[in-house]
Amino acid sequence: MIESEFIPEPYSGELPEGEVSWSSPSNIALVKYWGKYDPQLPANPSISLTLENSRTTTNLEYSKRKHAGTDFSINFLFEGNERLDFIPKINTFFKRIENYLPFLTEYDFNIRSSNSFPHSSGIASSASAMSALALCLMSIEKGMYPEMSDDFFNRKASFLSRLGSGSACRSIEGPVVAWGQHEDVPESSDLFGLPFPFELHHDFKSYHDAILLVHEGQKEVSSTVGHDLMKNHPYASTRFEQANQNLSELIPILQIGDLKGFTKIVEQEALALHAMMMTSSPYFVLMKPNTLNIINKVWGFRAETGLNLCFTLDAGANVHLLFPDAESEEIYEFIKNELVAYCENGHYICDQVGIGARLNPM
Ligand code: DP6
Repeated sequence: MIESEFIPEPYSGELPEGEVSWSSPSNIALVKYWGKYDPQLPANPSISLTLENSRTTTNLEYSKRKHAGTDFSINFLFEGNERLDFIPKINTFFKRIENYLPFLTEYDFNIRSSNSFPHSSGIASSASAMSALALCLMSIEKGMYPEMSDDFFNRKASFLSRLGSGSACRSIEGPVVAWGQHEDVPESSDLFGLPFPFELHHDFKSYHDAILLVHEGQKEVSSTVGHDLMKNHPYASTRFEQANQNLSELIPILQIGDLKGFTKIVEQEALALHAMMMTSSPYFVLMKPNTLNIINKVWGFRAETGLNLCFTLDAGANVHLLFPDAESEEIYEFIKNELVAYCENGHYICDQVGIGARLNPM
């Protein structure tokens, strides 16, 4: 599909007002997206596990304005409080997607949003938040164009989410989503994410992600700044090649359930991501001492028990621990006994692979 296919024909239906609500999950990348070009196109393909419990729920009320303006009319409440500081971000998002949703200037919008995880947890909420909002807007478009197929709905929701935050395009569906053109992934595109197009081994359908909150609070360097630093990065082309290669290797691993192969690629990707941060100009470090303490403990535990516990990192200090359901009891014991001490205030989040966003009944 090409971009122009997301520009709608004149709508057949009219919607004076209404309300819609979606709950959309976060996702954790196995092969990392780090580096992008305008407009929000990835420098390399990525693939992620969709999560189940870490979600944003967004309600969108819309009512037709008497006269369409040139500006957007947006009110935004986050967890019940008016948050004017979020409005510029939503405005930028609306500007980017206006061409694909021409009705945006024709309505007054009231947005209410909340997260299932604490906002201060340092968990990237842009993926769940932007995808939830994009899905609400797609529901409005579907109301005006009811014959839209589910497949097109999901692709366009992912396409719009990407324009809000790159990783958000991998949050619409599950359990595994690939984003970015890659020769081994049929129909893959830089424009939107698509569910893994092969049979996924059952072990991965119920994989666990225990998110250890090493550092709660805002990150010191935003993802946007980090992506940008890949533009003049001395190792950029090697890194992009590595991501492509790792995705090629991960595809059969996900099909046959090769958990050892999975661990090797996922941990290398996590450390490669942080190696890019540590070698950019300016350089920066997002890991904290306890991030490394946890990594060392995980390696020790694996050597001792042979269990399939591995870690990954996003653009922060928190550690995502990935493991199969069949080994979860023993691994949760280990987390409680040995790793909680490294978490800020002892906090961690128990999550698992999920199948994507949900439309909430109104
Ligand atoms: C390290 O999607 O947050 O989590 O497109 O600027 O919003 P923007 O960046 P974002 O970057 C995510 C980076 C990552 C890796 C990943 O999720 O693939």
